Amino acid sequence: MSTVRPVRRVDRLTAEQSTAVLALAAAAAETDGTFPLSEDTVLAVRASADAAGEDAARVHLMSHAGDGLAGYAHLDRSDAGAPTGELVVHPRHRREGHGTALLAAAAAAVAPGATLSVWAHGDSAAARAFAEGAGFARARVLWQMRRSLTEPLPDLPLPAGVTVRHFRPGFDDAGWLALNARAFADHPEQGRWTEADLRLRMAEPWFDPEGFLLAVDVGDALQGFHWTKVHPAHGDVPRMGEIYVLGVDPGAHKRGLGAALSVAGLQFLALGGVQHAMLYVDESNSAAVALYRRLGFTVFAADVGYQKIV
Ligand SMILES: CC(C)(COP(=O)(O)OP(=O)(O)OC[C@H]1O[C@@H](n2cnc3c(N)ncnc32)[C@H](O)[C@@H]1OP(=O)(O)O)[C@@H](O)C(=O)NCCC(=O)NCCS
Repeated sequence: MSTVRPVRRVDRLTAEQSTAVLALAAAAAETDGTFPLSEDTVLAVRASADAAGEDAARVHLMSHAGDGLAGYAHLDRSDAGAPTGELVVHPRHRREGHGTALLAAAAAAVAPGATLSVWAHGDSAAARAFAEGAGFARARVLWQMRRSLTEPLPDLPLPAGVTVRHFRPGFDDAGWLALNARAFADHPEQGRWTEADLRLRMAEPWFDPEGFLLAVDVGDALQGFHWTKVHPAHGDVPRMGEIYVLGVDPGAHKRGLGAALSVAGLQFLALGGVQHAMLYVDESNSAAVALYRRLGFTVFAADVGYQKIV
């Protein structure tokens, strides 16, 4: 492979480009057995085609072959010092230099000296050889853990004075965003969610406020939350409930609230007839991993973040 592939960089995709990117990702998923883009990127690709979806922090990079789109990369530069990206090359056009060209274009699109993270879903040997060959180092591992919901759940009571109610759209938005920022102050992506990030998800067909549980004290002050999500069945994969985001205010830690909220959300899913649950957790987040193991979750798959100072 020696051809240098030209890369087109745009701040917004057209509707046609957005469709082509999602089709490319689907073709890669078919071959690799893993969908190559995160939910956040898919939402950005879809929203980008709307005028309202313009987001200066995001960059879309495309590489073409004679038969159309050959590769795509997405960059999120909302943290200028630690931008993150994903890239995927169509199975028909691998080992032709598209990945290398997209990665170089991604590195050129971020601030000099930034630590660029590129995420590979599924921990494949190809991604590892490709990323390490480009001087990136394996830096973070995100686990997908799973558990059957037909097995009994432990009975874990809420701390005294705490009750659970569901999220009320329009009423709880600002309070929840503030709680999320406190709960994830040390988390590179989750803690920075804005009103726009919340709105995008509330507009999704899966959004169900009844499955978005809030733990409140006697004065209705928010203490923690468990936002669940149900993924519809597709192919051989059954309907799957997800611990989408679980967070506890640092002031309410060490009282068993995270465990009790986890169980409350899983019970909600099980009562709705969902038989399988999953979640994503950083392998290094030992407190969360210990909690999920205690609740019967085991590691099902891993995503890997490769990093380089560019
Ligand atoms: C990983 C991926 C992006 C590589 O794209 P690509 O266009 O095939 O990569 P390139 O042609 O630029 O390859 C550059 C070098 O990476 C290495 N490489 C790429 N794929 C490889 C594989 N399957 N096995 C071993 N080495 C590989 C080789 O050293 C290659 O150079 P060579 O072809 O001269 O030997 C592509 O396989 C893909 O889309 N995979 C699914 C999505 C994914 O994993 N993305 C995360 C990437 S960190």
